[in-house]
Amino acid sequence: MTDPLGRWRRLAPDSVLLDGFHALKHAVRFGAEIPVAVTADRTAALALADELAPDVRPRLDALLTEVPEAVYASLVPRPHPTAVAALAVRPARAAHLERLARTPRGAPVVVLDHPRNLGNAGAVIRLAAGFGATGVVTTGTLDPWHPTVVRGGAGLHFATAVERLAVDELPPGPVFALDPEGDDIRGVKLPDDALLAFGSERSGLSADLRARADHLLSLPMRPQVSSYNLATSVAMTLYHWSATGGAPS
Ligand SMILES: C[S@@+](CC[C@H](N)C(=O)[O-])C[C@H]1O[C@@H](n2cnc3c(N)ncnc32)[C@H](O)[C@@H]1O
Repeated sequence: MTDPLGRWRRLAPDSVLLDGFHALKHAVRFGAEIPVAVTADRTAALALADELAPDVRPRLDALLTEVPEAVYASLVPRPHPTAVAALAVRPARAAHLERLARTPRGAPVVVLDHPRNLGNAGAVIRLAAGFGATGVVTTGTLDPWHPTVVRGGAGLHFATAVERLAVDELPPGPVFALDPEGDDIRGVKLPDDALLAFGSERSGLSADLRARADHLLSLPMRPQVSSYNLATSVAMTLYHWSATGGAPS
């Protein structure tokens, strides 16, 4: 590729940073458009592809341009051990909104109500991708496409529909909101068209989300424990959905 750095600098402000081999691998697998990809060690990156991802090896071979180590390091906030980075085109919001709103739905939408922690949001997107959830919607100020979230999600934003919306813009479907005071989830079968909503790390579910909720459900927990971590709660709930009939496609 001619002048990958010029291309990088031109595209970076409006692109999604794929930081590391695994983020690039997943983005390629799930059809992301990737205009530029660099590595400080092409031989090592392709050896990693041979070992871990032979399905995307030909595409990585075509995409990756080797640049000096210092140049690579200047393009990313914190160099990744795999010394691979790429820029991807962010999927169109309109297409995501259409996907999130489409019914009947084959798998739930995860709603994070005012999440605060970028790492938690990334972990949840990775879970949603793994379970084949329709999407992940956040409310509040956190940007679910922030580079730290994309890094935490290992590039799996491209495997589901990730958008930020207000509570009154949530897609259709019954809202099952998770709260330690709710009914025991073990007695409930979660429908495929559910919106599974989780509160913020600090203050739990907002008043707006509670008002929109059709059911409040709790995860089993000993009395003296206050709550679980947000991403852990999403993991248990998606597992419950899958174990009671829903399944990753
Ligand atoms: C860290 S917790 C929030 C703790 C917060 N201090 C509160 O008052 O709820 C983040 C979210 O995870 C979910 N969660 C955590 N533990 C749960 C439990 N035992 N049952 C149901 N949901 C739970 C809820 O959606 C909660 O809002």
